[in-house]
Amino acid sequence: MAHVVLKDLIKNYGSFNAVKSVSLTVNDGEFVALVGPSGCGKTTTLNLVAGLTSVTSGDILIGDQVVNDLDPKDRDIAMVFQNYALYPQKSVYKNLAFPLQMRKLPKDEIDRKVKEAARVLDMTQLLERKPRELSGGQQQRVALGRALVRDPAVFLMDEPLSNLDAKLRVQMRSEIKRFHQDLKATIIYVTHDQLEAVTMADRMAVMNGGYLQQYDTPAQVFANPVNMFVASFVGSPAMSLVPLQASTSNGSTFLTSAEGWQLELSPKNARKVAKASSNKVVLGARHSTIRLHKNAEPGCVPAKAYTVEPTGDITFVQAFLSGAIVNISVPPSVPVSPDEPVWLEFDQERLHLFDGETEMALRSE
Ligand SMILES: Nc1ncnc2c1ncn2[C@@H]1O[C@H](COP(=O)(O)OP(=O)(O)OP(=O)(O)O)[C@@H](O)[C@H]1O
Ligand SMILES: [Mg+2]
Repeated sequence: MAHVVLKDLIKNYGSFNAVKSVSLTVNDGEFVALVGPSGCGKTTTLNLVAGLTSVTSGDILIGDQVVNDLDPKDRDIAMVFQNYALYPQKSVYKNLAFPLQMRKLPKDEIDRKVKEAARVLDMTQLLERKPRELSGGQQQRVALGRALVRDPAVFLMDEPLSNLDAKLRVQMRSEIKRFHQDLKATIIYVTHDQLEAVTMADRMAVMNGGYLQQYDTPAQVFANPVNMFVASFVGSPAMSLVPLQASTSNGSTFLTSAEGWQLELSPKNARKVAKASSNKVVLGARHSTIRLHKNAEPGCVPAKAYTVEPTGDITFVQAFLSGAIVNISVPPSVPVSPDEPVWLEFDQERLHLFDGETEMALRSE
């Protein structure tokens, strides 16, 4: 296995900038997810690493070698795509063996590698079947096996699970994670599904509009999103964002709504707000950090329930607060009806505050 370095990577298609100066290092044996909304440049970035697209500027290193000018076949990578494109007439065994035969490996070595891949992916009993005799998940495992037998320095995966149904996707998610742990493989994994990235990756690279927004562990990205885009992209239901006005009086800092209510901030949150470039501040809160009250209480702000979605062990309530939609979770035992007035209490320790002008997170230090 090997590490991968992207240095100031830029890709233009004509005058369109698809990838805008992306720099990141994937350590040897690390599982990194490239995640972001459709069109943000994930596949383009992966294809640059694979050599399927040429670099406009910047460098790509695999191991210590700059690979910008190497053909895909000389980059020591293996790709797994959404569309696994197995040979329909060949058995699983032959599908796995084929890339090795192309490389003219000795027959007994091919046999050993195929059987080892089948063992790792738990499909020894499927080797004689044809692809049409396999489930979608089994076919995806064969596609993974075909990458595995090549014993590459880096695995590149582009939305490998998006053709599978929801249940199978969850199962294959665990299997790929297991595959990574067992092999200590270096994996760059593209997905638009933040939950896949959060659950599988050691680190996630969140992209938007061709820019790398944040590159960190899922826990860090979740706890300390750098800006409003990352805050609302990672986590489900999304973090609620409420634009408000900051003001200070008698040594206290308040966030004021156009509707007239005020929320007094803790000293730490007041220090964050003092760093804002104007009095426009956006309050951010995850559903689990907001308490819903049925009556007005000190420190609470007034809202109005909009939708109520029971999911079994947790009920999600959406409420209007100062013109914004806020997601809150409550135990199923709390009865809430649409259009009912409710009061919200924010956990100030876990509140997020953003600069209303730059959309960047405000920090207290
Ligand atoms: N060959 C091309 N020529 C021109 N523009 C392209 C080309 N390939 C991609 N693009 C554009 O570059 C941007 C990034 O595309 P890319 O395929 O990398 O997105 P993505 O993040 O993988 O999206 P998705 O989640 O939909 O797969 C898009 O706006 C796309 O239209
Ligand atoms: Mg893509």
